[in-house]
Parts: sequence; C-alpha cells; structure tokens
Amino acid sequence: MKITVIGAGYVGLVTAACFADLGNEVMCVEKVSSKLEKLCRGISPIYEPGLDEMLQKNIKEGRIHFTDKIEEGVNFSDVIFICVGTPQSESGKADLSQVEEAARQIATYMDRYKLIIEKSTVPVNTHKWVKKTVKRYAKNDIEFDVASNPEFLREGSAIYDFMNPDRIVVGVESEKAKQIFQQLYKPFTDKGYPLLITTPQAAELIKHASNSFLAMKISYINMVADLCEKVGADINEVADGMGYDKRIGRAFLNAGLGYGGSCFPKDVKAFVKIAEDNGIDFSLLKEVEKINQRRREKVIELIEDILWINKDKNIAIWGLAFKPDTDDIREAPSIDIVKSLSQTGANLRLYDPKAMDNYKQLFPESDNLKYVDDKYDAVKDADILVIITEWKEFKEADLSRVKSLMRLPIIVDGRNIYDPKSVRDLGFEYYSIGRP
Ligand code: UGA
Repeated sequence: MKITVIGAGYVGLVTAACFADLGNEVMCVEKVSSKLEKLCRGISPIYEPGLDEMLQKNIKEGRIHFTDKIEEGVNFSDVIFICVGTPQSESGKADLSQVEEAARQIATYMDRYKLIIEKSTVPVNTHKWVKKTVKRYAKNDIEFDVASNPEFLREGSAIYDFMNPDRIVVGVESEKAKQIFQQLYKPFTDKGYPLLITTPQAAELIKHASNSFLAMKISYINMVADLCEKVGADINEVADGMGYDKRIGRAFLNAGLGYGGSCFPKDVKAFVKIAEDNGIDFSLLKEVEKINQRRREKVIELIEDILWINKDKNIAIWGLAFKPDTDDIREAPSIDIVKSLSQTGANLRLYDPKAMDNYKQLFPESDNLKYVDDKYDAVKDADILVIITEWKEFKEADLSRVKSLMRLPIIVDGRNIYDPKSVRDLGFEYYSIGRP
C-alpha cells in the first residue's frame, strides 16, 4: 500500500520505517530542514536501536521517501498518518496546534478520498475536531474518514514493539476505513496479532488509559518498596510474588526512581486534565504523579544522609537518559537529581552511554560538573556512585575495578541492578530501593 506519514519524530519515523520494511511504499513529510537532510541520508535524528539500518535498507530499495512538501505527501497516498508532536501546555493540556495545522493542510491539498489517521497521542474526541477542521478547509466536498490508531511503542524497543504488538487498536466510523485498516494490518493479523476495531473515542481513550495505568503500576510498586524498606522485606521478592498472578503481571513492577520520558509524565497529566474538563476528579492519578516526584527527592535525601555534607564530595553519576537504550532525557529522573546535587557544592562526574550530548545542552560543563567518556573515569576518586539508569553496561561493570578506583566504596543504586549480597561481599556500602 502507499502510505503518507506526517511528522518524522519518534512515532512517525518508526511507523514510516516499519511500514516500508513490511513492503509498503511510504512518503514521510518532515518540515525541519536539518532533520530532513539527515533522514534523506538514512540517519535518524533520534537514537533508536536498529532504526538507521532499517531506514538505509528501505531508502536503498526505494520504499521510503522524505519530503518537506506537505502537498507532495497528501497527493502521494490516500492513507495519511498524523504523527506530529502534541507537547504539554502550561495547564497540563495537550497543545494540539500541530495536529490542527496538519488537518488544515491535508484539507487544502486533498483532491480525492483520504483516510486521515491520528497516531499522535491526543485527548479523547480530538478526531471530532480533526473532522470539523478538514471539512471547513476542504476546497470541495471530498469524501474522507478520520480514524484513531494509537501507538504503543516503547523507546529503545520501538521496532520490536511495532512488529510484535500486543494489540493493534483502530477507532473508525466507516466500513471503508475499517477495510483499509484490515488490509494495512493484514501482515499482523495473519500472524495472529489482535486487531481491535473500536470507535475513535474509545481508541483515543485506550492510549491515555493504558499509559496512565502503567504509570500507576510503577507508583504503586514504589510505595510498596518504601514499606519493604521499613519492614525488612525485599521488593523484588514481593513483585515476583505479585507478578505470578496473571491478573497482575510482573511487568512494570520494577521499583526505583520512578518514571520519566516524553510519554508517561505528559500523558498522566493530560488524562487528569481531560477528566477534569469532563467534570471528573481523577485524584488517583494525581497521587500517582506525586509519588513519582517524591522518588527523586527521596534519593537526594538519601545521598545527603549518607555523605552528611555534600560540599566538595565527588559524586559519580551513571545514567542520565530516562531509561536505557535511548538518548532521550525528557523528564528524566536524573534531571532533578543532578540539578539538586549540583547546587550543594559537590563535584559531579556524569556518564551515560548515549545521552550526554543532549544532557550537555541542559547542564553545560562547569568547574563542578564534568562529563566523562567512560564509566570507570566517572568513579575515579568518587566518594559515592549513584546509578540512575539501568544500562546493560552498568549491570555488567567490573565492580572490583570500580571499588579500586573510588575514594570511598559507596553505591546508591536507584534501579536495583545489583545483587545486594554480592556487592556487599566486595566491600561496598550499598543502598538500593526497597531492599533490606
Ligand atoms: C511508554 C509505553 O510503555 C508505550 O507503550 C507507549 O507507546 C509510549 O510510552 C508512548 O506513549 O509513546 P516509553 O515512555 O518509551 O513507553 O518507556 P517505558 O518503557 O514505558 O518506561 C517509561 C518509564 O517508566 C521509564 O522512565 C522507566 O524507567 C520507568 N519504569 C518502567 C519503571 O520505573 N519501572 C518499571 O517497572 C517500568
């Protein structure tokens, strides 16, 4: 099939590359010229494992094209995915101006039937506004459908998630739109992946409700972790025991520094706001947010409890990205932690395998904040090592070497990546989350 994707951000680019890889012909519209120039050379502006290779293969085989001309994109196909950004505004509400702009532009240039699909995460009933906008700005009375097809891709494993979905959700209002989706997702349904056909409003809600539920699971387990610390239980044992119950499941029960990223913090806030706009006080989710914020404060307090005085202490930080396998630092727990520690007069040495370039824009190097290219350099003469992101290379680190390099052998492990007994046997003073 021919497919147009508007917006080569995280969602758009992965969607475009994966659909092309499945044999479709894809036109991706990106208006930022610096991004477009890279994309045409098969270089992704974001780090996502496997994405560059997939782009290069499909560019070479002529299945994916990039343009900055929306008109070209609209003419190219009858199936148009809107994958533009929906950033958070001051009030917590999603800023939908880019979605509105895309709808207007599609309306301006369409000259035959179009299936216009929201893939960006949007508040419930946005499809109604998209429909209204297209109708208003269309030059003629051309038939079109608006549908919702939310994405459930995790950064760092987005290609895997796209190709192996737990479910595909499409919210449609017409038989024609339904049939187009059935054809588009046939390679998936043939393999047995479920395709759920719903109303557009249900599809829109499924996305926000799913992300908020996962965020709630994380805050829940973090509260249980706090209780574990008080009573001498191990949160991993508790989470395992809960997770065997199929109704609960073990996923997203990893206690630690809580959630960050471009999705959960924004989506939980937006969902609270959507509920509020509809006269519902979603106080449960407000508490989820509060608990999540508190995770960061707790670890800052813990470091101060351990060091007594932070001033002039050397603090090594491992991990800046909001989670492993990404260079994304949006809403990363590290931001609050680094900010707070840097104000205490401590000397910080930061290391992350992928996120340091992005981080330097937020925290430029200074006398007491340095970036190093190697995790072992970060711990040289350190009084404490703080682990914020659970990168694989930290899990596999040579801890004897770490110990020999540090001034004091103290680790605060914000993601529970080590076995407490083995680390302590090596002579470390070791603190983790929710474990005795
Ligand atoms: C999330 C969802 O998992 C995707 O399904 C969704 O499509 C995406 O948002 C989106 O809306 O676009 P993502 O933000 O990439 O994906 O990352 P997750 O793997 O979900 O992790 C989110 C945060 O929760 C990370 O900061 C992670 O460290 C934290 N987390 C996750 C925990 O603290 N504990 C856990 O057990 C799991």
